[in-house]
Amino acid sequence: MAQHIGILTSGGDCPGLNAAIRGLGKAAREHYGMRVLGFLNGFRGLAQDQTVELDGAMLSGILTDGGTILGTSRDKPHRMNIGGKETDMTEAIVATYHRHHLDALVCIGGGGTQKNALRLVERGLNVVTLPKTIDNDISMTDRTFGFDTALGIATEAIDRLHSTATSHERIIVVEVMGHRAGWLALEAGIAGGADVILLPEMPYDVEKIADAIRRRTQSGKRFSIVVVAEGSMSVDEAHDVEALVKARDQADSKKTRAESKEKLRTFHDEHVGHTIRLTRNLEKLTGQETRLTILGHLQRGGTPSAADRVFATWLGTECAAVLNERIYGVMLALQGTELKLVPLADLAGRMRHVPPDHPLIVAGRRVGTTFGD
Ligand code: F6P
Repeated sequence: MAQHIGILTSGGDCPGLNAAIRGLGKAAREHYGMRVLGFLNGFRGLAQDQTVELDGAMLSGILTDGGTILGTSRDKPHRMNIGGKETDMTEAIVATYHRHHLDALVCIGGGGTQKNALRLVERGLNVVTLPKTIDNDISMTDRTFGFDTALGIATEAIDRLHSTATSHERIIVVEVMGHRAGWLALEAGIAGGADVILLPEMPYDVEKIADAIRRRTQSGKRFSIVVVAEGSMSVDEAHDVEALVKARDQADSKKTRAESKEKLRTFHDEHVGHTIRLTRNLEKLTGQETRLTILGHLQRGGTPSAADRVFATWLGTECAAVLNERIYGVMLALQGTELKLVPLADLAGRMRHVPPDHPLIVAGRRVGTTFGD
């Protein structure tokens, strides 16, 4: 009998989602004779049974479109805001899955989605996932789709900022996305020839950054480009976070754990404006006019790059083949030049960070880039 599969996109959107939906949907329907049902707005659509039949017309003409035709959300199955109340919707999700007589569910998402997908696997659902995120930080895959497009956007922005920085002899600080992993800042910084690159994985000393900029000035280079991942922090801030995490993990009661969790949340909320503070500090320390550009969601919008379209199509069509083999509980991952199946249990909850000795950090140092350490 023809298989019936469900698809959802979850977490922050990124370019290439529609290419993946199209690749998966077309291969599933036209090559393997499956029926394909889309769930709207991530796990919320699965919990509240909001669906759309992914027929030929729906899957046509979307390859180059940004965003996702299915909509997305950051809802988690076990903690969903229903009428203002945090509710465990796992049972409702399991019921929807069975109501539609699904053979399998494909969840296209980032790190959080992999964890949520594993929760559903543990509840007995047949789930396969695809890795997307502009952060490129999902463990056990060399690449996630969305990253290449964001890298192109961030690099073009840095290129454009170079000419205005040079004209005015200013320092320009550019904030790119990446809360906990700095892949986008690292690669865009290298591609754009940044003078300073700051990553969440490498706490910085603002004095060292200012020193590097002063040395540039002394050598006659009167402008500097500082690329900062949004989650970067100073050495002192990194110590504060470390202490808060320790307090949370070693809390001896529910109450103290909740209190330290709240403190950690407040820290992260307040950290949002840190590139403004960094910009002011650099201006003060160097005496040079300094400006800040925050690229924000520009990096996630618009048409996917050719590389992301190709990769997402490959992942989607291969996923249909995996479903046809009735292999479940895995994510399709790029390892070297091949797509491999990685058990969700092995990767969920793990993040791929930039190691401080990564070859691109070495390359950056060799061309004179400062990492603030
Ligand atoms: O996870 C991808 C990402 O783009 C991060 O780089 C960024 O910190 C976050 O999403 C922003 O999320 P939101 O769109 O929910 O504000």
